[in-house]
Amino acid sequence: MDKIKITGGVPLKGTIRISGSKNAALPLMAASLLTSETLRLDNVPQLADIRTMCELLDLLGVSIEDNRVSDGSGDLAFAANSLTSTVAPYDLVRKMRASVLVLGPLLARLGHAEVSLPGGCAIGTRPVDLHLSGLEAMGAEIELAEGYIKARAPKGLKGAEVLFSNVSVGATENLMMAAALAEGETRLVNAAREPEIVDLANCLVSMGAQLEGAGSDVITIKGVPSLNGARHSVIPDRIETGTFVMAAAISDGDLQLEGARPDHLEKPFQVLRQAGVAIEPNDKGLRVYRANGPLQGTDIMTEAFPGFATDLQAQFMALMATAEGASMITETIFENRFMHVPELTRMGADITVHGASALVRGQKRLKAAPVMATDLRASVSLVLAALAAEGETELNRVYHLDRGYERIEEKLATCGASIARSKEDISS
Ligand code: EPZ
Repeated sequence: MDKIKITGGVPLKGTIRISGSKNAALPLMAASLLTSETLRLDNVPQLADIRTMCELLDLLGVSIEDNRVSDGSGDLAFAANSLTSTVAPYDLVRKMRASVLVLGPLLARLGHAEVSLPGGCAIGTRPVDLHLSGLEAMGAEIELAEGYIKARAPKGLKGAEVLFSNVSVGATENLMMAAALAEGETRLVNAAREPEIVDLANCLVSMGAQLEGAGSDVITIKGVPSLNGARHSVIPDRIETGTFVMAAAISDGDLQLEGARPDHLEKPFQVLRQAGVAIEPNDKGLRVYRANGPLQGTDIMTEAFPGFATDLQAQFMALMATAEGASMITETIFENRFMHVPELTRMGADITVHGASALVRGQKRLKAAPVMATDLRASVSLVLAALAAEGETELNRVYHLDRGYERIEEKLATCGASIARSKEDISS
């Protein structure tokens, strides 16, 4: 297993190109199952989670052509003209929960699908009940057996009104894809409004779907008998953008983030500006630096979009650990998303957790330590802390980072960070 070593204290200076969004690309890849024609996706990042989704689609019989090169150009092309399986096995689903996104498309296109139940994960129990009840409202028969979701729609899916009791990104995506090929009209009420939902909607529309309202909390889809191929470019990754904004701020640097979309980050940027971060949108993306000396403690509460993203909470906590004053950070989306707290504490952060809230008392300087994390965003929060810490931090379990941050060491090193990856010594 790889390790990353970071020596802190260097202000990051330079330009970073923002990669395509992982969480937009994964459902877009699943959407390729909806058509027998080729779906070409540009700007798909080179990440472990993308490789896992390719592995799953390959297993289902999708032909995949990877024309991507490391500068971000070139497409990934998917042709689902001869599907050979409708089973998403445990081994892949357990590796990546987003595998459940093949359920809606398979059911809509072929009338049956078996997808392993994802089970809990490091950040919470994460049930899929909203995906299942939505598909049932559209006429699917669903049975849970041997750890699998066994879904059938022998007479095809039918349009329905689906009222989500909770906002769910994945359930909204699964249902949008299923409804695109269902008979009649589906209304998704209390739908998620994330930019990734709008990106999927735009792609489905260019594939011939009749869909309106994406980006609002009611999405209406009139089913069509078949969809066509299309070419679509994945939106830039707003979570990677927010992470590098905080990397500039925590290291007291000055970064230009090329291709960033500030309109996808209004709430986080409002909070960061309040904390003393200057964020200046320009024609190539945005520039970020500290507005006026030390950062100031600022409170946040995570919420579904357009609120403060849960996927930026851990990074913001690292930032606040070095701010002047205290901040209260409240996590409302996942029940167990504070695993970075004990690791940040090992680096000298002063954080007390009370239920869903963490009180962070900022420190002048964090100190390097060997650390590890159990999920992607927790891992990157430790990278941020390490960039500001005194001494050399050793980050273990780097594979979490590789799931969601394309070439992160290279991007940070180009801007002056002292960061290097090494293979773990097996004897240690
Ligand atoms: C997506 O996960 C993202 N993943 C997550 O990013 C992100 O944290 C999350 O949305 C919230 O923004 C992808 O897009 C691939 P949800 P998803 O369904 O769709 C509960 C990262 O670090 N819920 O919106 O799985 C659920 O338990 C990852 O990149 C139900 O109760 O999230 C959670 O509390 C981590 N029943 C809340 O809703 C359901 O059927 C929101 O989850 C579904 C969800």
